[in-house]
Amino acid sequence: MAALVLFGGGGDLAMRMLLPSLYFLEHDRLLPDDLKIIGAARSEETPAEYIAKVRASVEAKARADQAWDEAAWARMEARLDYLAVDATSAESLRPLRDKVGQGSVTSFLAVSPSLYARIVTAMRAAGLAEPEDRVVLEKPVGRDLETFLAIDDAVADAFSEQQVFRIDHYLGKETVQNLIALRFGNTIFEPLWNNLSIDHVQITIGETVGVGDRWPYYDEYGALRDMLQNHMLQLLCLVAMEPPSDLDPDSVRNEKVKVLRSLRPITPEDAERVTVRGQYAAGTSGGKPVASYDEERGLDSDTETFVAIRADIDNWRWAGVPFFMRTGKRLPEKRTEIVIQFKPVPHSIFDRDDRGEVQANRMIIELQPEEDISLTVMNKRPGLDQRMQLQPIKMSLSWGVGGKGDAPPRRRIAYERLLLDALNGDSTLFVRRDEAEKAWEWVDGVSQAWADAGTKPHDYVAGTWGPEAADYLLDRTGRAWNTTDA
Ligand code: BG6
Repeated sequence: MAALVLFGGGGDLAMRMLLPSLYFLEHDRLLPDDLKIIGAARSEETPAEYIAKVRASVEAKARADQAWDEAAWARMEARLDYLAVDATSAESLRPLRDKVGQGSVTSFLAVSPSLYARIVTAMRAAGLAEPEDRVVLEKPVGRDLETFLAIDDAVADAFSEQQVFRIDHYLGKETVQNLIALRFGNTIFEPLWNNLSIDHVQITIGETVGVGDRWPYYDEYGALRDMLQNHMLQLLCLVAMEPPSDLDPDSVRNEKVKVLRSLRPITPEDAERVTVRGQYAAGTSGGKPVASYDEERGLDSDTETFVAIRADIDNWRWAGVPFFMRTGKRLPEKRTEIVIQFKPVPHSIFDRDDRGEVQANRMIIELQPEEDISLTVMNKRPGLDQRMQLQPIKMSLSWGVGGKGDAPPRRRIAYERLLLDALNGDSTLFVRRDEAEKAWEWVDGVSQAWADAGTKPHDYVAGTWGPEAADYLLDRTGRAWNTTDA
């Protein structure tokens, strides 16, 4: 028998994401037959009480997605169990090992990362870190390189690198994987994927939510550590990496590490020119008035809720191609996109008179709210105009290509893919230790540059696209953030 143990099994991540993901996998009969799912948390409750809570949360989510099925739930319920534990104590963990028997255990740590080191040490003593066992770590692992290494060293004492699965849930998103398919499953893009044809790249992760009552965590991290160190740099790596020789975990991750090593460090002299920090002031969200970050926090804080950075990758492929990244809370839209902006035609034969402007090609890889990859190309406007008129048209690779009227497949939770991969021992979509190290090194450089240059966040009105300085970041290079829909 194999087991998946959810430490923090009654917490927000487990209830909102992990258990619904497991239900959907069960629904689609993708879980290994003999898998037990064991919630492990501090609260003294019976398995029946725990299972009732899981059902309430899973059912609500599944019904919203029109995927509730009593039979699937019955199968999942038969796998579920609960044990009250103090995960930092080996003695308290031993009954868990007994419950699981001799089979392999995958432990998902959905608890505060400040406990990771103590938990893995206790797991090792309790026999939950045997060679066939695995551990899955949710971010954030550390808040800088030093704290990351302290936690990761404790993890490395208990588990070998092949047993460790560091989650970045963006890597489980369908379109992120589609980006790999697009780049390496086609011949037509790769010859253009370099500084000869690409002018610049934009990566935007916009969120409408504020920080709210997450501030005790957020105030220590800010947008730089919460989003850029992980999700944004992962997206950048997948756009910028060289073709790996195969899809083996190490082949892909070797290429990503090379990108991170080529990122030009941000110096204090550069801080004002290539980075922007912002913090939301009061404004509106979804038509309703919302408070400023400082009001939510209850005192004046210098934590950024918005960050924009120009990153340069110092290698042959990307020399001279800036990667502009921005992310923030309380922006006008929940929108995640990667824009590949191609160079304009070298000489336009159309631009004269009123024939319409020739726009440079642009590929938009949209992850949220819709999943789509589209390419804008110039086309002749149909008609008998004496002088040819041009217009941009969008070619979209979105779902629904199977046949007219086909319903698109249900949009999966990113954790479905990642849980399945962790259970199968495939770490391609997980972050290797040296990747996390290099990402922290670069991000530490940014925060050090801010400290040395005394860079403070600019206020922006909640419900806008961040401080004006974020527009100048591109404007001063003659470029602008994408405002068109994918
Ligand atoms: C998490 C961050 O990693 O990602 C949150 O901690 C953020 O602050 C979330 O809201 C965004 O994820 P998604 O999948 O909703 O874009």
